[in-house]
Amino acid sequence: MGAMIVVTGSTGYLGHYVVRELDARGVPHCTAGRVAGCDVRIDLLDPASIRPAVEGLAPATILNVGALSAMGACEQEPDLAMRTNALAVAEWAALGVRLVQVSTDLVFDGRSAPYLPTGDVQPLSAYGRSKAEGEVAALRAEDALVVRIPLLFGPSHDGAHGATDMLQPGRSLGLFTNEYRTPLHVADAARLLVDLALDEARRGIVHLAGPERLSRWDFARRYAEIAHVDGRAWRPTVAVDPLRPRDVSMISDLRIGRSLDAALDPVESARTPDSIPRPHEVHPQRSRRQLH
Ligand SMILES: NC(=O)c1ccc[n+]([C@@H]2O[C@H](COP(=O)([O-])OP(=O)(O)OC[C@H]3O[C@@H](n4cnc5c(N)ncnc54)[C@H](OP(=O)(O)O)[C@@H]3O)[C@@H](O)[C@H]2O)c1
Repeated sequence: MGAMIVVTGSTGYLGHYVVRELDARGVPHCTAGRVAGCDVRIDLLDPASIRPAVEGLAPATILNVGALSAMGACEQEPDLAMRTNALAVAEWAALGVRLVQVSTDLVFDGRSAPYLPTGDVQPLSAYGRSKAEGEVAALRAEDALVVRIPLLFGPSHDGAHGATDMLQPGRSLGLFTNEYRTPLHVADAARLLVDLALDEARRGIVHLAGPERLSRWDFARRYAEIAHVDGRAWRPTVAVDPLRPRDVSMISDLRIGRSLDAALDPVESARTPDSIPRPHEVHPQRSRRQLH
């Protein structure tokens, strides 16, 4: 396999799974990030760091998973969000290399679900706005693909990122009955994202979405039932925050290949954070060797 992929965000929730998927398929890749263990150092807040870092690698594709992804942090520091999620994307897009930009269902305002890629982009939050700007920046490149993904679930590297990680037995939680998503297992998202990254003919906007539309509350109850988790401390609540769109369910352009129940099954979800590669275990030597 010749084509090499530069992947950002490898130290994050989805990024861990993407790197594992690339490793498993033997796809040559190079991780780009700001912490030790990444193959090349870049800081999305310092666009000038991007070009020199990837020059000489001659990648076929940039897979930009990295982002300021916490909604609260984006709301508090919208400038930081815009720089990380949009200005840095413009820099990637200017490299003249195929760009696959990971985006979100939160670019929508939730009033016209279910959404197709042609849906009207009307973000409500600072996070959504920065990601929407990132889409525009990416699509300025001739050869760009924007992949919108929904709420992700499944075990995370730090036990605190995935939608199911939050659903601890005995933990007192309020879960929205009026906020609808099409949740997708993070491993499925990574697998399909790598498929798309390798499919060099793909351009434009693609939606990846889970097989069912359901509220946070219904999702939690389904998880409790299938994973045999005691959810008696969880309670239904109503979302009133105007920054949270009520229904951003999407129609998937790709077949997910398994039902929501199968993805929620404890055997399938048995991958503990320990089995997810840590940043320093991402085999930098192997990745570098594969570049040649
Ligand atoms: N998780 C979801 O449910 C979900 C849903 C829809 C869309 N998405 C999108 O999916 C992508 C991945 O999300 P995630 O949940 O995996 O996020 P995450 O766990 O917060 O990971 C974010 C990644 O971006 C990197 N990053 C952030 N700022 C950086 C900077 N200035 N320079 C270099 N790297 C930087 C982080 O690296 P550090 O370790 O250095 O911080 C980390 O690797 C994002 O584009 C997000 O918008 C996620």
